[in-house]
Amino acid sequence: MTDEAPAAYVGQKRIVSGVQPTGDLHLGNYLGALIKFVRMQHEMETFIFVADLHALTEWQDPAKLKDQVREIVAAFLAVGVDPKIATIFAQSSVPAHAELAWIFNCVARLGWLDRMTQFKDKAGKHKERSSVGLYTYPVLQAADILAHKATHVPVGEDQRQHLELTRDIAAKFNHDFDRPGFFPLAEAVVQGPGARIMSLRDGKVKMSKSDPSDYSRINLTDDAEAISQKVRKARTDAEPLPDNLEALKARPEAENLVGVYAALSGVTAEVVLKEFAGQGFGAFKPKLADLAVSVMGPIGAEMRRLLADKGEIDRILAAGGEKARDTAAPTLAEVKKIVGYWAG
Ligand code: TYM
Repeated sequence: MTDEAPAAYVGQKRIVSGVQPTGDLHLGNYLGALIKFVRMQHEMETFIFVADLHALTEWQDPAKLKDQVREIVAAFLAVGVDPKIATIFAQSSVPAHAELAWIFNCVARLGWLDRMTQFKDKAGKHKERSSVGLYTYPVLQAADILAHKATHVPVGEDQRQHLELTRDIAAKFNHDFDRPGFFPLAEAVVQGPGARIMSLRDGKVKMSKSDPSDYSRINLTDDAEAISQKVRKARTDAEPLPDNLEALKARPEAENLVGVYAALSGVTAEVVLKEFAGQGFGAFKPKLADLAVSVMGPIGAEMRRLLADKGEIDRILAAGGEKARDTAAPTLAEVKKIVGYWAG
């Protein structure tokens, strides 16, 4: 994966990223994705959406889905995504995503999708009972990104493989239809200590909305008491913290908490180790709890305030949907011409 956007697109950089409305957002979503949206919205044109089409790949209660979408928007706003700078929309309000996904279904190869580890993880042992949508999920993700010709996609580490597939689809489309450079090869923006936050109960599995234990994650809506309790109860080991990263490699829980501290305070893990080397978790955890409460506490409070006025969120989604439809329309019209559709 290159570090820079392809030369042809320098000067018109654009971010697209999405979050599924499938449960409470947590510290992993915040550090892996949301804080990057906030930072990058000042650097590039930014489109952030709630992936309600993707949510349907697993059963969702229709009566609750709209409120789940609003909650994600409240989280975007509470962490500092500014609707005056960034376009915030619901995926279902831009039909171009689904239309382009069909064409990409015919570009992507079965063998490429067979390699997707997220499908294997989510489908588990009974893949024949999974929805077809869950299998083609990454194709829709490619359409989300390419409908807006994004050059940069800020995401957590778990999405890296989907971004590689997006690049493969873009390159194959450009090649098959002899349109070099039509779709940009979007770059995943994954770097940083927050790229892969692990469960607080097991440092070997990622923090996830679907983990049955609420103690495995810090939710964006948790209050100060819940946050400190979860940090206090986080699994650790009995050793003091070392003075170098190498020594953390065999200690996944310790490595994770140091990474969380680093990401929350905006420094590297090395800097954290410099401060805490030689100290045990009895000293480290209270400091981490205070830090987590000071960063996360206000976000939950702001989300609750925002959700009390659904009208404002709905207005932001309506305006964002209109803007995103306008941005995607010329690309989709051109794609239809390129592939030779009867109706344009
Ligand atoms: P979703 O809703 O599962 O997660 C939203 C974002 O949070 C990141 N993330 C994490 N980062 C660090 N540590 C963790 N433990 C952790 N858990 C989740 C995810 O990487 C993601 O950035 N497929 C996407 C949604 C999507 C999308 C897109 C993203 C649909 N279309 C187009 C980018 C571009 C997903 O399921 O994210």
